[in-house]
Amino acid sequence: MIDLKEYIRDIEDFPKEGITFKDITPLLGNASAFAKAATALLELVPDVQIDKVVGIEARGFFFGTLLAEKLGAGFVPVRKPKKLPHTTIAQTYELEYGTDTLEMHVDAISKGDKVLLHDDVLATGGTAAAVIQLIEKAGGAIVQCNFLGEIAFLEGRKKLEGQEVKALFQF
Ligand code: PRP
Ligand code: MG
Repeated sequence: MIDLKEYIRDIEDFPKEGITFKDITPLLGNASAFAKAATALLELVPDVQIDKVVGIEARGFFFGTLLAEKLGAGFVPVRKPKKLPHTTIAQTYELEYGTDTLEMHVDAISKGDKVLLHDDVLATGGTAAAVIQLIEKAGGAIVQCNFLGEIAFLEGRKKLEGQEVKALFQF
């Protein structure tokens, strides 16, 4: 069994000094690591019919669409502002300095849809928490928040209280 974590490299001081960036491109670029990660992410998902997989721009798109296809679900992109062409709902959230906003099409999720939220990394949890609010505004029921990796010391899970949170590995 290959250790998938070995395919994620640390880039120091990116994008800003003092930040260690978790670069997943070696994992994406290795055919067997990529396939194994997709299978392992799928195995985290409970045995419930998922209606929609929500992937967060940009790195949540890589595995989000694969998961949707394997689960027989639709895929919903959550995007950075002014990228989606139709009417959107938006959620603003706090960053270390300032705020950021994410958007989703207003009709992307129907009331009662069972939703899997996927992203590559859970860090402070601000991004995922904002997307949880978007999904809940639309009336979706979140089955699981699913990540490749979780940066444990940042305690992002605390922001996702009440949700089922799964990650393939902890950093
Ligand atoms: C990164 C990562 C997660 C988010 C996690 O995305 O892909 O989406 O940060 O951080 P948080 O838990 O502290 O909110 P980034 O904003 O760098 O954008 P990208 O996916 O488009 O590269
Ligand atoms: Mg991201």
